[in-house]
Amino acid sequence: GKSLDLAGKHILITAGPTYERIDPVRFIGNYSSGKMGYALAEEAAARGARVTLVSGHVSIAHDFSPSVDVVRVESARQMLDACEAAFADADAAIMCAAVADYAPAAPSDTKIKREGNEPPVIRLVKNPDIARTLGERKRSGQILVGFALETDHEGDNAISKLKSKNLDMIVLNSLRDAGAGFSTDTNKITIYTADGRTVPFPLKDKREVADDILDIMLTL
Ligand code: PMT
Repeated sequence: GKSLDLAGKHILITAGPTYERIDPVRFIGNYSSGKMGYALAEEAAARGARVTLVSGHVSIAHDFSPSVDVVRVESARQMLDACEAAFADADAAIMCAAVADYAPAAPSDTKIKREGNEPPVIRLVKNPDIARTLGERKRSGQILVGFALETDHEGDNAISKLKSKNLDMIVLNSLRDAGAGFSTDTNKITIYTADGRTVPFPLKDKREVADDILDIMLTL
């Protein structure tokens, strides 16, 4: 069996994409499947944690124990509200969701029509940064873990997100690595800690990646 090294801990985990509404039938989204965040929730629960999983829209199979409380949300704004509610009581938070940075400024109440219209211009506004908000609110003893999904200048970008969001560690995955990032069952990560460590890992199944992340988190 697995050791219960997270027994008594409450961990907030975000997963999946956010959907930002354009009109009642359309949204801005991204390719996150939820696999990485759901693997983290399953592994944390298997190691004894109570988990609050704040999930955007995903369609993957999962088999959560009763110690995983799933809160379903659609938009970044809703994800922020759910995270703020859960973080107060959490020992750690892992921000694995792919949150849209922008949302339509004025979503339409009715379906945008094609006939007789010029192509629409959709003005965007900045979404709240959930990780940064929790980073500002973090109490001593709370651990905040972020992800960085990069396509270039990976290490520099990850370290700058670690610092600007007041994280304790960040998990870098790069779309330049085959088998890493969105939708795959595998991932290839490098972890950067606020205390200055850089820990690279080989390509692994997302469940094993989740355990590696939890192992490093426990050293903080
Ligand atoms: O779901 P899968 O298909 O398994 O794919 C997994 C994954 C690629 C989505 C996951 O491993 C991952 O990298 N998640 C973070 C994706 C992302 O949005 O990264 P980012 O570099 O844009 O954001 C940096 C950090 O800030 C992340 O922790 C993110 O959750 C957080 N963030 C970003 C924007 C925002 N408005 N609020 C946030 O909290």
